[in-house]
Amino acid sequence: MDRYVTGAVIRRLREGKKMTQEELAGKIHVSGKAVSKWETGQGFPDISLLELLSKTLDISVIELLSGEDVRNQNRSSDMAKGKFYVCPVCGNVIRTIGEAVISCCGITLPPVDPEPADSDHFIHTEIVEDEYYVTVNHPMHKEHYLSFLAAVSDQGIQFVKLYPEGNAEARFKINRVIKLYAYCNRHGLFQAKPVNR
Ligand SMILES: [Fe+2]
Repeated sequence: MDRYVTGAVIRRLREGKKMTQEELAGKIHVSGKAVSKWETGQGFPDISLLELLSKTLDISVIELLSGEDVRNQNRSSDMAKGKFYVCPVCGNVIRTIGEAVISCCGITLPPVDPEPADSDHFIHTEIVEDEYYVTVNHPMHKEHYLSFLAAVSDQGIQFVKLYPEGNAEARFKINRVIKLYAYCNRHGLFQAKPVNR
C-alpha cells in the first residue's frame, strides 16, 4: 500500500454514518480516545483493526485505505467510458468499465488519461477485409516501445500486448470499435478514432 488510512477519512466516514467517536469506538472495541487520536492525526489504527473498521464504516478495506468511496458509481457505464490502469513496476494493464481503486505491486494506480495521438505516436488504421490493421511508426526497443494496442467499443475491448523488438501492429475486428489506443512506456496513452469504413 502506498499510504495508510488517514484520520480525515475515518472522520468523514464516521460522520457520514452519523456515529459519534464513542459509538464507533464501541463497535470496534477500542476507546473513544483512540478514535479521537486517529482522527486528529496523533495515531493510526492497528492493522488488525482495519477489517472491522471498514466493515463498521460500510466500505471495503481498499476504499478505506485510498480514501475514496467508489461504490455504486458504475451502473450506467459502458466499456467506452472505462479507464486503463498501468502498473509502472510490473507492466500489468487493467481496463475497467467504470472508476475503481486499483492496486498493483503495492501501489494504488491512478487511471491513465489518454491524449490525442501526436505525430510520434500516430495510430495508422487501414481496413483489411473485416478488420482494422493498426500500425504505429514508433521505436520498439527495450527502453522505448509500445506495450499494447487496444480497440474499444461500447460492448468490449480487443487488446494486443506488444513486446520490445516486436512490431507495433495489431488486427482488430471492426465491429462497433469507437476508439483505438496505443500505450508507450515513455510517453503514456494515446487515442485515435478509427478510419471510417
Ligand atoms: Fe513514445
